[in-house]
Amino acid sequence: MGHVVAVTDVRDPRLSDFTDLTDVALRRVREPAEGLFVAEGEKVVLRALAAGYAPRSVLTEAKWLPGIEAALAPHGCPIYVADAEVLRAVTGYNVHRGALASMRRRPLPSLDDVLATAQRIVVLEDLVDHTNVGAVFRNAAALGIDAVLVSPECADPLYRRSVKVSMGAVLAVPWTRAEPWPDALDRLRANGFRTLAMSPDPRGTALPDADLSPPVAVVLGTEGEGLTPGARDRCTTSVRIPMAAGVDSLNVAAASAVVFYAVGSSSQA
Ligand SMILES: C[S@@+](CC[C@H](N)C(=O)[O-])C[C@H]1O[C@@H](n2cnc3c(N)ncnc32)[C@H](O)[C@@H]1O
Repeated sequence: MGHVVAVTDVRDPRLSDFTDLTDVALRRVREPAEGLFVAEGEKVVLRALAAGYAPRSVLTEAKWLPGIEAALAPHGCPIYVADAEVLRAVTGYNVHRGALASMRRRPLPSLDDVLATAQRIVVLEDLVDHTNVGAVFRNAAALGIDAVLVSPECADPLYRRSVKVSMGAVLAVPWTRAEPWPDALDRLRANGFRTLAMSPDPRGTALPDADLSPPVAVVLGTEGEGLTPGARDRCTTSVRIPMAAGVDSLNVAAASAVVFYAVGSSSQA
């Protein structure tokens, strides 16, 4: 069993993995630098453990312990138990979903290793919103995408919000950073991938008319400006999801669900 410790002092240095969780600017620098990420809620904690991630420590209210302690037992990490008020003071918010686990990051696989086993991939260029990143991973897992590549500037898939919104899919779907960017897209083409630059640009091929057969890479752009010219120019084809009159584009996660479904249906044809 883990080492269960009651904590009452919000400044207890042993809780430092869990401090200031609402400070996105701080946490997005701190977590990769310190090699950790935070899994939130019983389901996500259990999925992180099942995916082979090792816990550094856990912070929870006592009532959530029964759901996680058996899975934590082999790891012997400290389990800090506190009341709701202490959790709020340490983290900066009301932790409704119970347990928080600080997990150790693992080295990312190489681009070649990811490509070697994937036939359908998605590439995210510079998404800034962690919710969108998590939602794309969830869609990828649900709709049969084998792997995710993220550009160097793309928001961190292991940031707490991404992990939570993905329902743990970021822990299960293989992913890595595509570097150098955008030259990594040339490596996809060299490996035989058809690369689809997803854009609402009316000059692109309409999704129903596009060749989506694998190996295929769906390339999605950032929330504001869409794909950069450098990324677009390296893709095989520009593909658009036809929009009804008056609507210029879809949210990137919504667009991902539409195109992933089409890619999955095309592969089965
Ligand atoms: C909010 S959109 C960006 C809109 C931006 N004005 C543009 O022209 O791409 C974010 C991303 O979602 C994808 N997307 C959104 N709507 C799309 C559509 N109708 N067809 C294809 N891709 C779309 C694209 O990859 C886009 O880069």
